[in-house]
Amino acid sequence: MNGDKDSNWIDELRLQFNSLFSNTILVETTDKKRNEELCQKKPKIMNIKGAKRKENWIYLDGWEGFYYWKKNDKGELEQKQFKNGSVSKYGINEALPTVSDELYKGNRILVVSNIFKSNDHFNNAIRGWSNSDTLRDRDTKIVIFADDRSMFPPEVWTHMKIIKPPKSTWKEREKTIRFQQDELNPTTKIGDKKITDVVRLTAGMNLDQLESAVIKSIIIENEIKLSVLSKEKNELFAKNPVIDLIDQPKFGFEGVGGYQSLKNRIRDDVILPLRHPEFAKRYCMKSPRGILLYGPPGTGKTLLVKSMAKELNMSILLLRPENILGKYVGESEKSMRKVFEIAEAMVPCIVFIDELDRFSKRSGGDNVSSHVERELFSMLLEKLGDENREWFFAGATNNIDAIDPALRRTGRIDSVAPVPFPDEEARMEIFKIHTTVKRKLPLKNDIDIERIVKETYMWSGSDIEQLVIRTSRDVMKSDIKDKKHDLKIGMDDFLRILNTFNIPVDKNEGLQSNVKDKVMEYTNDKRLMHVFEHAQDSHVSKSKTEKAKNITKGLGKKKTIWDDKNE
Ligand SMILES: Nc1ncnc2c1ncn2[C@@H]1O[C@H](COP(=O)(O)OP(=O)(O)OP(=O)(O)O)[C@@H](O)[C@H]1O
Ligand SMILES: [Mg+2]
Repeated sequence: MNGDKDSNWIDELRLQFNSLFSNTILVETTDKKRNEELCQKKPKIMNIKGAKRKENWIYLDGWEGFYYWKKNDKGELEQKQFKNGSVSKYGINEALPTVSDELYKGNRILVVSNIFKSNDHFNNAIRGWSNSDTLRDRDTKIVIFADDRSMFPPEVWTHMKIIKPPKSTWKEREKTIRFQQDELNPTTKIGDKKITDVVRLTAGMNLDQLESAVIKSIIIENEIKLSVLSKEKNELFAKNPVIDLIDQPKFGFEGVGGYQSLKNRIRDDVILPLRHPEFAKRYCMKSPRGILLYGPPGTGKTLLVKSMAKELNMSILLLRPENILGKYVGESEKSMRKVFEIAEAMVPCIVFIDELDRFSKRSGGDNVSSHVERELFSMLLEKLGDENREWFFAGATNNIDAIDPALRRTGRIDSVAPVPFPDEEARMEIFKIHTTVKRKLPLKNDIDIERIVKETYMWSGSDIEQLVIRTSRDVMKSDIKDKKHDLKIGMDDFLRILNTFNIPVDKNEGLQSNVKDKVMEYTNDKRLMHVFEHAQDSHVSKSKTEKAKNITKGLGKKKTIWDDKNE
């Protein structure tokens, strides 16, 4: 994983300065921690001439003006503004002549920060400085911190070297979290597992953002809470137009009924190695690359991917190709590159494309995709095959045949997994999840789960959820009418509503066998066949009957045996 790499952007900065390409470097970040890091690590760049002497460091700040640091009589460092170095009245332009004078004295290192908009005056000044042979000969260097090069016109930034420091590395985040915990909550120790979860979850935040999120969590909740951090992070990324950050779901795999063999596969193949990168390394496992789930509508594919993010404590970036598709190839390509950039910054994370078939059409089929779509899809393929990709890809589709086979080529994704209609056990669990776990409904004692399982043959998980919702709504309606506020939902209610459903069983059986036929075509893993084991049964086996009875006994009581874990 990305994790343990150290951030060495300052070394890069030094190398760039020494290469003499330009005396100006643009550091693309607005993280003030990075700025502090440079200013505190002066010794690290000491083989830039003059960097060791603090008198040589001068600062131009959009808010604070043009200043330097000086020791006072007591030997303490004091921030001193240059004469005419104010930016209070006319903004940065006011200080530029003074800055220029200072720079030409030679051997200065100018750090520019907190400038969010450039203007002609400023652009001309920078262009002049970065092209100046005199300044180069006099060993003057300029470091500009700005969010993005596009703040300047290209004729300005092409004369600079551009460095993009990482938002935050694993080590840096760990250090920040431990530091804040020790500062603000020294009496409680935070376990290594928790630290790992927090560090993983906060990938993509910069150190400044991380620090404020951690402080906020400790102040509000008295501890570092994953849910608070996840919310903070989501707010930071919510503004992005091309990618949606999905909120961490409340439930992991315990919120997905059935599909045990599939969940096991995902646990073994994806979750274990991502959670234990040190073991993966020992057994020469690369990080898992991706998964494609296919199956009929409503069977829980999207749900599975979302709950995977919860199991892993990772963010999911939902990529909606339709949001990227612009009129021109160049435009869309730019957005797509931006997506990859965000994903890389947020590693470890899952990039999820739902309804992938709409995007990845086989060439030559009926619905031939547009030129732009093909272009974007080939960018995706290329990225998926990139050895250095560290984010995990998830795709879902109910039309596997429409997916371009190139996607399945080794190295791009690891597995193609079928998600058929739920078998008996799955239907039982799905019903249970929606009545007693995700919702805690007032139920009578007479729920005959065995019967519900039988009557819902070839229903999808989504249909079963609908059954629960519609039944509750119906009973609620009577309750409101009678003003009793004490009705409970009984078996007769479920059966009454069940009869109002129109489920195309024949059609679904067709879809089911299609899903099954495809397994061996698309994967060589026999174990994935287990999801079909009970799907076609309409009778309930003996052990299942026992299980069902137990569950029925528990239903409607305060604490049911359903409360225990499924796995
Ligand atoms: N196995 C399941 N366990 C619990 N709930 C389920 C299950 N399958 C489906 N559901 C419920 O049905 C809803 C819809 O499922 P989901 O959107 O994941 O299906 P899908 O396979 O992605 O469908 P589509 O192909 O139409 O996108 C889920 O939000 C969930 O509430
Ligand atoms: Mg879906």
